[in-house]
Amino acid sequence: MASPVAEADDVRVRVAGKINLALRSGPRRADGYHELSTIFQAVSLYDEVVARWAEPGRITVTVTGDQAHLVPTDDTNLAVRAARLLRDLVATSEVGVALEIHKAIPVTGGMAGGSADAAAALLACAVLWDLDISPEEMRALGARLGADVPFCLAGGTALGADRGDQLVPVLTRGTYHWVLGFGEGELSTPAVFARFDELDLGGDGPAEVPSALMNALVSGDPVALGAALINDLQPAAVALRPALAEALDAGLELGAVGAIVSGSGPTVAFLAATEVEAIDLATQLSTRGLFRGVKRVQGPVAGARLLD
Ligand code: C5P
Repeated sequence: MASPVAEADDVRVRVAGKINLALRSGPRRADGYHELSTIFQAVSLYDEVVARWAEPGRITVTVTGDQAHLVPTDDTNLAVRAARLLRDLVATSEVGVALEIHKAIPVTGGMAGGSADAAAALLACAVLWDLDISPEEMRALGARLGADVPFCLAGGTALGADRGDQLVPVLTRGTYHWVLGFGEGELSTPAVFARFDELDLGGDGPAEVPSALMNALVSGDPVALGAALINDLQPAAVALRPALAEALDAGLELGAVGAIVSGSGPTVAFLAATEVEAIDLATQLSTRGLFRGVKRVQGPVAGARLLD
């Protein structure tokens, strides 16, 4: 257990959102999930989670920042669920926590915002409560909360298999310059997967991640990477939100070397060849009125990390 000195401290964790450079999906399985073969990349758009001691037994959350009003603050909040899971399975005495989430990652935006907050809450509570838990145990707990949680803990660039939660790091060179376009409203991941099923896009299993994409990452070639980006969920997301097609085209016309719906959308990720081109692209896209917001980010970056 933590000493009274440690109890006085807040624990602060920063966690990055993700984009999928490739997302290949098979058909729906008996457990309701889809078998995936995906390449995640963590990008420099961060939520922050602060954990403070609360009276034993109490787990609460407050949310501030971008789209905070869309995040539930009851027991369905993924950060609260993470804290409860850790308390129930790992803590050896009565503990409590007041969590504070500061959002920058879009809510239900295809960038794993909820999973990022769950990953950050796991790390923050483990430190606050001074728990004896290995990174592997934390990863396994995370996978119970959501398929993207293990990646949000790990960060970097990784190949995800099974539900996307079985990870292998991927070798990459250099930094990639992305411009994100945030869509109006949310797009529910289950709804996008349901449309994917209706369109019968799953085939016999997930197709392979293109070798051209893996080669581009190793050589650090943004033009080759841009040409190889692929998202099997994109047709389903576009079917539900036709304006996404126009948004993707606009970025390519303005010089992006690649454009893709991030995960289940509606966030769109544009890859620029250089930082200067990313600055130019972001400026041009913001004047088009296609997005509620445009943001320049870089990847890969680290996963959930303690802040001083
Ligand atoms: O991982 P998480 O539970 O956050 O995923 C949300 C929903 O997305 C799932 O309930 C499921 O409907 C869908 N999903 C899926 N296959 C995956 C990952 C997510 O069908 N591999």
